[in-house]
Amino acid sequence: MSGARENAALAWSAYFTAAVWASLGVPGAARFDTLRGRVLHQAARWGGSMLGLRGDHSVTSLLLAARHLGLGALLDEIAPEQVIELAAGLSPRGAEWARARPVVYIEVDQAAVIDAKRRLLEPAQPRGELVLVAADLREADLGEALGAALRDRRTAVVSEGLTGYLDEPALRGLLRQVRRVASRLSSCVVLMDFYLRDGAAATPARDAGVPGEAWLRKRALRSMLCRGLDDLEHLRTLVSSEGFELRAAHTARDLAVRAGIAPPPLELFVIAELAPARSGGDAVR
Ligand SMILES: C[S@@+](CC[C@H](N)C(=O)[O-])C[C@H]1O[C@@H](n2cnc3c(N)ncnc32)[C@H](O)[C@@H]1O
Repeated sequence: MSGARENAALAWSAYFTAAVWASLGVPGAARFDTLRGRVLHQAARWGGSMLGLRGDHSVTSLLLAARHLGLGALLDEIAPEQVIELAAGLSPRGAEWARARPVVYIEVDQAAVIDAKRRLLEPAQPRGELVLVAADLREADLGEALGAALRDRRTAVVSEGLTGYLDEPALRGLLRQVRRVASRLSSCVVLMDFYLRDGAAATPARDAGVPGEAWLRKRALRSMLCRGLDDLEHLRTLVSSEGFELRAAHTARDLAVRAGIAPPPLELFVIAELAPARSGGDAVR
C-alpha cells in the first residue's frame, strides 16, 4: 500500500471506532458519530454475524469497550494535568476531559483526521484546553509537532488502537519519539495498548455454546486487528530497549472490572503502563 492510500485507510479506522463508541453510549461520542462510521460499523457487524458473532455484544464490542473505558478509568486514577493522546482519532475523551476537568488535553493524529475532528467540534460549546495537532507519527518529530503546546506538567501520554498497525521498527520509532518527549518532562507516565499473540492463543477453544465459535473469533480478530507482539516478555524487552520500564500490563479482563463492564471472553491486548527508565534516558536521542 502506498503511504497516501495507507493513511486514507487508517483515517477510516477513526470513523469506525467513533461509531463503536457512540453505539456503546460513551459520553460525548454522538458528536463524532458520522454516516461514514455508521456504515463501516454496520458492515463489520454483518461480517461478524456471518462468523457467528452476536449483535452489539459481539466480542469485538466487548474488547473495544474494555480498552476504551478501562483506559479512561486508568487515566482517572492518574489524574494528570496534561494528556498527550497519540492517534486520538475521533475519540470523544479529549473533548470531554478538556470540558469538564482542569487538564490540558493535546490530541495528535494525521491531518485528515484532525481536520474532520475540527469540523465535528464546530460549533461547539467552550472547549476548555483541547489542543489538536496534525502530525504523521511515522515521519514527524513529535516534540517539534507539539511545539509550544508541550509544557512541563504532570503528564500522561496515551495511545489507543495505534500500535496494532505498526511493525516492530515503526513501533520502536514511536517509543523513541515518546521517550524523547518524556525526557523533557519532570513527571510522565505512558498508557499504550499492545496486541499479544499468546493472549489469543491461550483463550479456551470453546465458549458459549457453538463449537468452533471461539476459534473463528480468534482467527477473525487476529487477522483483522493486529500485527502484534509475541507475548509479555517480548513487550518488556522491546520497551526496556527503548528506555522504558514496564510498570504494569493491564489485561482486557482487568480493564473491564476497572470500568465496571462485562469482561470480554478473549484476551487479545494489554494496556501497558510505562515509565521512563531511571537509567539510560540520556542515551535516547
Ligand atoms: C483505530 S483508530 C483509533 C482512534 C482512537 N484512538 C480511538 O480509540 O477512538 C486509529 C487511529 O490511528 C491514527 N493513525 C494511524 N497511523 C497514524 C500515523 N502514522 N500518524 C498519526 N495518526 C495515525 C488514525 O488516523 C486513526 O485515527
